[in-house]
Amino acid sequence: MTSTTRTAREQIPLAQPVIGDREEELVLQVLRSRRLSLGPLLAPFEEAFARSVGARHASAISSGTAGLHLALRGAGVGDGDEVITSPFSFVASANVAVYERARPVFADIDPVTLNLDPRAARAAVTERTSALLPVHIFGYPADLPAFERFGLPVVEDACEALGAIHADGTPVGGSGHPAVFGFYANKQLTTGEGGMVTMADPALKERIDSERNQGRAANMDWLDHDRLGFNYRLSDLACALGLAQLERLDDLLAGRAHVAALYRQALAGIEGLDLPCPDAGRLRRGWFVFVVQLPRGTDRDLVVRELGSRYGIPSKPYFPAVHLMSYYRERFGHREGEFPVCEDVAARSIALPFFPVMTEGQVARVAEALRAVLQPA
Ligand SMILES: Cc1ncc(COP(=O)(O)O)c(C=O)c1O
Repeated sequence: MTSTTRTAREQIPLAQPVIGDREEELVLQVLRSRRLSLGPLLAPFEEAFARSVGARHASAISSGTAGLHLALRGAGVGDGDEVITSPFSFVASANVAVYERARPVFADIDPVTLNLDPRAARAAVTERTSALLPVHIFGYPADLPAFERFGLPVVEDACEALGAIHADGTPVGGSGHPAVFGFYANKQLTTGEGGMVTMADPALKERIDSERNQGRAANMDWLDHDRLGFNYRLSDLACALGLAQLERLDDLLAGRAHVAALYRQALAGIEGLDLPCPDAGRLRRGWFVFVVQLPRGTDRDLVVRELGSRYGIPSKPYFPAVHLMSYYRERFGHREGEFPVCEDVAARSIALPFFPVMTEGQVARVAEALRAVLQPA
């Protein structure tokens, strides 16, 4: 076997968390405390996270989805309301409105940033609109000032955007609106499963802390509950992982930004291939995934298959349009053609392997393979 063939068979993961000694140390600290939930690291994790994004408060939560759900409840969304959001997202950002018997109302996206287009969102406002839920897709900050001008409650889906910075220099999560981060295993910071809601309002923090814990008030007896609640707690074992990663977040983010820059160079010049849009002014993307849009007319399934079978490189369509998923078609009657920009982008996007310790050689292999599949000699 030649070395080229051997290299070609080495599997590069699509995503891979970086776990260090500090995670082990803090997990052991929690184990030794014998308090595995609502224990010693919950408040330190929340406080350190809030500081890191310049927020006044933060509430740790069992997932990004759970955080979005409680943040929408906190914004007063309920039965029959409408929540305007992006159809180019992970399905959870729309589902959370449905949890509260509200209707997710989609509006098209900006073809460059891939975020909810404020003008399209404005056109979708009705007297039933009770909140806006912009998504900082792929870590690129949404145009928050434009959404703030609507005068409606804003809940930010920042699940993919840890480390991102708005054009005015404010970190995503530090604008005062509830902003929800996700800590699933592929995220910039991971606790396996988990999330965090940041906010300026202490009353919202109190409400979310109670609702994540079955509706108990902080000073209330164990079995009394003064509101409907959920079990959306984050265990202290997860907080230990999160705190350890927060301590070296700058390195983790820098690693991702470096890999993105390598990709940008390695993929330059492939005709019709659209790369993630670059940062503008002081705005910074918090790198989460490296998603490219294939040239129009390309058979995407074939590209994904060939990358896998011929080069051992995983990739996946990312994201499918939410409004065209079976549940959304059936429940809300959505059809092709409603959001043409989103549908075009969703039909062409694939996520390439991306993680902070990816080597230059691995990036080059992915780029060469993609070039070969798209431009066969
Ligand atoms: C944009 C977006 N919203 C919401 C979520 C949901 O987060 P979680 O998987 O932690 O529930 C994710 C996570 O993948 C996401 O990418």
